[in-house]
Amino acid sequence: MEEYTSSADRYKHMKYNRCGKSGLLLPAVSLGLWHNFGFVDSFSTCRDIILQAFDSGITHFDLANNYGPPPGSAETNFGKILSGDLAPYRDELIISTKAGYLMWPGPYGEWGSRKYLLASLDQSLRRMGIDYVDIFYSHRPDPDTPLEETLGALDHAVRRGKALYAGISNYDPELTRRAYHILKDLGTPCLIHQPKYSLLVREVEKGLLDVLEEEGVGCIPFSPLAQGLLTSKYLKGIPKDSRADKPHGFLNRSDITSGLIKKLNKLNDLAAKRNQSLAQMSLSYLLHDRRITSVLIGASSVIQLHDSLECLKNTEFSDSELVQINRILRIK
Ligand SMILES: NC(=O)c1ccc[n+]([C@@H]2O[C@H](COP(=O)([O-])OP(=O)(O)OC[C@H]3O[C@@H](n4cnc5c(N)ncnc54)[C@H](OP(=O)(O)O)[C@@H]3O)[C@@H](O)[C@H]2O)c1
Repeated sequence: MEEYTSSADRYKHMKYNRCGKSGLLLPAVSLGLWHNFGFVDSFSTCRDIILQAFDSGITHFDLANNYGPPPGSAETNFGKILSGDLAPYRDELIISTKAGYLMWPGPYGEWGSRKYLLASLDQSLRRMGIDYVDIFYSHRPDPDTPLEETLGALDHAVRRGKALYAGISNYDPELTRRAYHILKDLGTPCLIHQPKYSLLVREVEKGLLDVLEEEGVGCIPFSPLAQGLLTSKYLKGIPKDSRADKPHGFLNRSDITSGLIKKLNKLNDLAAKRNQSLAQMSLSYLLHDRRITSVLIGASSVIQLHDSLECLKNTEFSDSELVQINRILRIK
């Protein structure tokens, strides 16, 4: 493998946004390692994507205990790159991980107990070979554990220096407000929320973004391309080797209906009028809202990464374009 030195121009083209009311700036585009970075994937492609991302100003890499497959392998692969190519750059990186979904058998291997969260964070640190993560998330709310216990575990991780900031993911607006106040009372601010948000999934526009703005919490939408649906990939159906074509993962062939394909083609035509690819327009749409700190993309190739990054060149929308988008998606 060729030796790596990061590009001297790496901070030239990226935009950095303040995360809520915190002191932390995040790149407008961040890279997530949910799919394409596990042991089932090519390590050399993983490495290329991550290093190209860093060379393009992406300082934020998002992981979770269960990313792979197999679970944990994305953190192990990322740790390998961190201890090698990226070793000189740890202070230029914002690394996040999460705990919430099933990781090991028995009653302590998922959800939101203090026992699970803190054990999981220790495992994540070991897999990545680092002393601390920058952001530690509660990956999903646990209906059976007091919120105070889950958030108390995040606070503890921050106080012990194992995480610099605390975040929440998949919390609804009301729980988000409660979580914000509990963390505030504990003395560890809620830095960021990670919700599912894309042109196709617009729930967060109905309250969550308002709460985040009022409380000064950052927002980093996950699956901003709806797992690849909002790209040129599925315009003619399901291509080979796409996420929907793979046996593992969460995008099902049955999600891709002829009605959806029609809408995607119309969105693609609109994107072309803006001189953008569908992926670029979809990311720009999220970034045109100033409450969005960063869009958390996935990529299975360096070509996709570079295509998506071009979204930064035009994040403005006319009223008429916004109306057209909603009309295509039949959103009032
Ligand atoms: N907090 C949570 O509960 C949660 C849940 C899900 C994800 N996440 C985070 O969000 C990150 C992103 O999620 P995601 O991977 O679903 O994001 P996404 O950006 O919506 O989808 C990424 C997929 O879209 C396709 N793609 C990306 N750029 C493309 C381009 N320019 N042209 C054509 N196709 C393109 C690729 O699909 P192919 O693989 O088919 O090529 C790629 O794997 C995850 O890695 C993770 O960090 C968090």
